[in-house]
Amino acid sequence: MSIIVLGSINTDLVIRSPALPHPGETILGGEFYRAAGGKGANQAVAAARSSREQVTFLAAVGDDTFGGESLAGLKREHLDTRFLKVIPGQPSGVALILVDASGQNLISVASGANLHLRPDDVHAVPTKVWQDARVFVACLESPLETVMAGLRRAKQNGLTTIINPAPADREILFAVGLRLIDLLTPNETEAALLTGREVLTADDAEAAARQLQSAGCSRVIITRGEQGCCVLDGDVFVNLPAKRVEAIDAVAAGDVFNGALATALAEGRSLIEAAGWASTAAAISVTRRGAQPSIPTRDEIAQSAAT
Ligand code: RIB
Repeated sequence: MSIIVLGSINTDLVIRSPALPHPGETILGGEFYRAAGGKGANQAVAAARSSREQVTFLAAVGDDTFGGESLAGLKREHLDTRFLKVIPGQPSGVALILVDASGQNLISVASGANLHLRPDDVHAVPTKVWQDARVFVACLESPLETVMAGLRRAKQNGLTTIINPAPADREILFAVGLRLIDLLTPNETEAALLTGREVLTADDAEAAARQLQSAGCSRVIITRGEQGCCVLDGDVFVNLPAKRVEAIDAVAAGDVFNGALATALAEGRSLIEAAGWASTAAAISVTRRGAQPSIPTRDEIAQSAAT
């Protein structure tokens, strides 16, 4: 069964330097590179590389050079790109990213054409495509009403819905309606923003996940970087440690987690099993630089999971 991803496409302009600057500070000694990114595109590519099934991607770019290059890259990933929209006169999404020596990052996004993906674009996708799919994934880099249209269509057709609340926005998330969401996947920072409580330990993550569950979302995974992830499925809470790796760049680790998670759930694996698979995929991605260049293949994940 296939996967539908709705989300953003950006070109990432990255500077990797020894430290992240404070406001007003200039830091020299950085290295610049460009990479294909955007949370939605990263999730779609992660789902496609980790899966044997078709991945349909709903997104928008502008009619500029970055947009053309992004589309060409996504086509090479064998995604179903029939519903990607090119918006005349709009700039494609761009992210300015700073990465420090330990792999931590700061990201600022100019969304451009991503904000022009409309509910009508979701309605234009034939019912057969929804009926053939098992899992729907979206992040919050697309307009709220478009994400909601996707969630509604997904639920009407019996798909499992995953919302990665990134960037986190409490009002937007509650407007989306937690009851349409089968699985919510914030990281610790996002979970803290959404619940108003500090999330530093596994106990904090459990409390935050239970709070989100009582707000209406039946299943919650809180990703915790090198600490792994915490899974709340009904009454069952599990803390899954991550594989120990040498992290050089955490950009897109959460996106890789969500894409690989979608694959495993579409294959009918249990939530805990799927979270383990996704965590292995994310651990591989942080050992490589760049968003989409860091995304592992199915074989790489399987090999790493076996060791
Ligand atoms: O999650 C990482 C992504 O966030 C980057 O690829 C960037 O484009 C922003 O969307």
